[in-house]
Amino acid sequence: MRTIKKRVYIETYGCQMNVADSEVVLSLLADDGCDITNEIAEADVVLVNTCSIRENAEQRIYGRMGEFKRLKREKPGVIVGVLGCMAERLRSKLSHEEARGVGQIADLIVGPDEYRKLPALLEDAWHGKKGVAVQLSRVETYDDILPLRTDGISAWISVMRGCDKFCTFCVVPFTRGRERSRTLTSIIQEVEVLSTRGFKEVTLLGQNVNSYKDGNADFADLLGAVATVDPSIRVRFTTSHPQDMSDKLIGTIASLGNICNFIHLPVQSGSDRILERMNRTYTSAHYRALVERIKVAIPDVTLSTDTITGFPTETEDDHARTVDLLSEIGYDGAYMFKYSPRENTPAFNMPDDVAEVVKSRRVNEIVMLQNAISLRKNQSIVGQIVEVLAESPSKKSEDFWQGRTDGNKTVIFPKGDYSAGTYVPVRIERVNSATLFGSIAVVASPGRVEEAAA
Ligand code: 5AD
Ligand code: SF4
Repeated sequence: MRTIKKRVYIETYGCQMNVADSEVVLSLLADDGCDITNEIAEADVVLVNTCSIRENAEQRIYGRMGEFKRLKREKPGVIVGVLGCMAERLRSKLSHEEARGVGQIADLIVGPDEYRKLPALLEDAWHGKKGVAVQLSRVETYDDILPLRTDGISAWISVMRGCDKFCTFCVVPFTRGRERSRTLTSIIQEVEVLSTRGFKEVTLLGQNVNSYKDGNADFADLLGAVATVDPSIRVRFTTSHPQDMSDKLIGTIASLGNICNFIHLPVQSGSDRILERMNRTYTSAHYRALVERIKVAIPDVTLSTDTITGFPTETEDDHARTVDLLSEIGYDGAYMFKYSPRENTPAFNMPDDVAEVVKSRRVNEIVMLQNAISLRKNQSIVGQIVEVLAESPSKKSEDFWQGRTDGNKTVIFPKGDYSAGTYVPVRIERVNSATLFGSIAVVASPGRVEEAAA
């Protein structure tokens, strides 16, 4: 434990896994005697947890590094640390031009499996020694570290790390290494702690949660066990790979009321030719059949997906198949990306041959289509009473709560007498493609919709 307290500020980019990792980092540093600050101006240590998934994610961070460089000029003692996927990706070329000065600006470069070294590396940095720790691990899961959470209502819980899928476009297997799972016991203990602290939602995280394994327990067993800890806690999970999503898992989601009927199931493309080149290991027919089974087992399921437009050799016909699949399945939402070549991935060796204007036109077409579908889906909820977990004041007005439905749709409604962290019955009155707006349906004591309506 150090004697002089240092103030640490962390900025997080990218996926929820990074958000969860930042909480592990803060926990490690708080245990080492650091104070945590949300104000960069107050910080002695500025950490940035980075993302490499697409070129534009990295561009943002290079932009931020320029600002940190200025900060260091104004406040020479400040320590800058680059964490996460970019630290891992740039490990062998920190002095190269490609790293755009990251190697010079950063005092610490620490990959996702080396956070336990941060206290020691910081100590060195205070004595003027730069630190680089970028080994990937086959076993590190930070199982024993209780993440430092500031929210109080919703928690991310990382249940497995890494990815062995090697989709040809994806840098994750290279930046986060091989798959490994936490023990079921430690996850359940974490959920029990969260329950005692009054948390109302947990999201189980993994690059491919369906690969979760602890002895004989698979992801369905884990999900069921987590949901049984406290029925007032909603349970979500992300992300599922369509190849590995089992009927057992679908059955578990359908059978337990507090497991949200919301599934994020990235399809990437509707063209079998492109799916094969992406090494997604399923066909569009397999995917459609899976969605059909999900819809039968969970009739009110909310579905979302990811798509990539402009993968090498994508033709108008391939694109049309993605458009058809989106129209047919009718997702509630989608993250729609343009293909971005990533060094070291197998697709990097395929010519990035879809012109930028073509990628843009195709992705716009997909976005417009999906917005119309999302709007239609949301319109079908108008007039219904839905159960919303009140989470935080709405960004536009302190008099309104922002919360989410079981299906992960954002709802804005008047605060009434409800406090954050309660379930509120809300009658949906109007919608757009991204948000629902409503009023409190029953002004009784806070409770689940079933009770309020009873
Ligand atoms: N280019 C564009 N999108 C990508 N994704 C992953 N790698 C790339 C890439 N190289 C998208 C996929 C994935 C999501 C997390 O990011 O759609 O599901
Ligand atoms: Fe990347 Fe594919 Fe693994 Fe998802 S499943 S993290 S897209 S390699």
